[in-house]
Amino acid sequence: MISQRVRTITPSATLSLNARLQEMRAQGTEIINLSVGEPDFETPKFIRDVAHEAMESGWTRYTPTSGHPEAREAVCRHVLRTRNVEVKPEQVILSSGVKHSLSQTLLSLVNPGDEVMIGAPYWVSYPELIRLADGIPVVVETRIEDGFRLTREALEAQLTPRTMGIILNEPGNPTGVVSSASEVLEIIEFARDNDLWVISDEIYEAMVHEGRLNSPFSIDPERVSYISGLSKSFAMTGWRLGWSVSEPERANAIGRLQSHNAANPCSISQATVAAALDGMDHPELQEMYAAFRDRKDLVVEKLNAMDGVQFVAPKGAFYVFVDVSNFLGKDKRVADANQFCLGLLEEMGVAAVPGDAFGSPGCLRLSYARPNAEIADALDRLDQFLKKTSETS
Ligand SMILES: Cc1ncc(COP(=O)(O)O)c(C=O)c1O
Repeated sequence: MISQRVRTITPSATLSLNARLQEMRAQGTEIINLSVGEPDFETPKFIRDVAHEAMESGWTRYTPTSGHPEAREAVCRHVLRTRNVEVKPEQVILSSGVKHSLSQTLLSLVNPGDEVMIGAPYWVSYPELIRLADGIPVVVETRIEDGFRLTREALEAQLTPRTMGIILNEPGNPTGVVSSASEVLEIIEFARDNDLWVISDEIYEAMVHEGRLNSPFSIDPERVSYISGLSKSFAMTGWRLGWSVSEPERANAIGRLQSHNAANPCSISQATVAAALDGMDHPELQEMYAAFRDRKDLVVEKLNAMDGVQFVAPKGAFYVFVDVSNFLGKDKRVADANQFCLGLLEEMGVAAVPGDAFGSPGCLRLSYARPNAEIADALDRLDQFLKKTSETS
């Protein structure tokens, strides 16, 4: 007997594609995997060293459930340094990753039937996390022609008396979008005017390749919960460490919830928070950020040379979202993005994620968390596949 709540969770859209990828690899086929959602870099040594030391010096027990005081202080320093907002350690709740912080925050804010807005293309887990909190995800479409910009006008069109909040995500997965200060302000003003709470998922915050991140938390720290973590910006996906920073009452609620359903995140991972956040200028991290900038330029150059595809040059994270709808359709060899991705895998040995997973059919997400040579090779193969697809259609 499975609960109603869990029965309605949709399985990951990438599951069958991943299964095929593993099968092909097991048969000895070499695949270039541009479907990855994590940096291809090892966690920097200066951070690993801190973890070793922590293990030897007693960071091996339960910590306070909302996090070790030193780690919470480190997040406060980070918020002041990067967002110019002074917050108290009580406002910081450490968790076992950004997914976990998002889930705890939604569970603390959403009542049954509340509507929560997300811009499409969205990160795959937002709709399910909202549903798991008994809320209703309301998808607000953005357009590639507008650079995937979420506008006040589009939000207003879907506002109802049951709208309670918005989830924002910059730099964005899957689009790599980073909005200007005025664009972010427009959305926060919309939230203010309609008394909505905002969750801002800034997990890719250190990976901004052009311009700067305009964190909504800097504009309205009372209304916005800033959520981030170590996974992507520090190449620490396996360490499972995230945080939320919210106004005191909300933080207290999240902390109470967490004390019962998770207790504290891994103590050793917590021991690395200060080193990571205070060490963002460390050469090991700066080298990784520079590599991603470089790869982004390569991806843009290669895609610019392809006919018939549309994309928005990413400004952050390590993804590009490509519209291949010109190559899809009932009368064509490839009907939709799922089939396109399967064909690209089977015929060209390149793995990508179909846009359906992000609420945007007709597109695909390419990750550039791979070395330059692999990216260049994969994009040449994509180009060949596009040509092949047009010839046979
Ligand atoms: C936008 C976004 N938020 C959250 C997560 C999950 O982060 P974590 O691994 O810290 O739970 C991801 C991972 O892909 C992501 O892309």
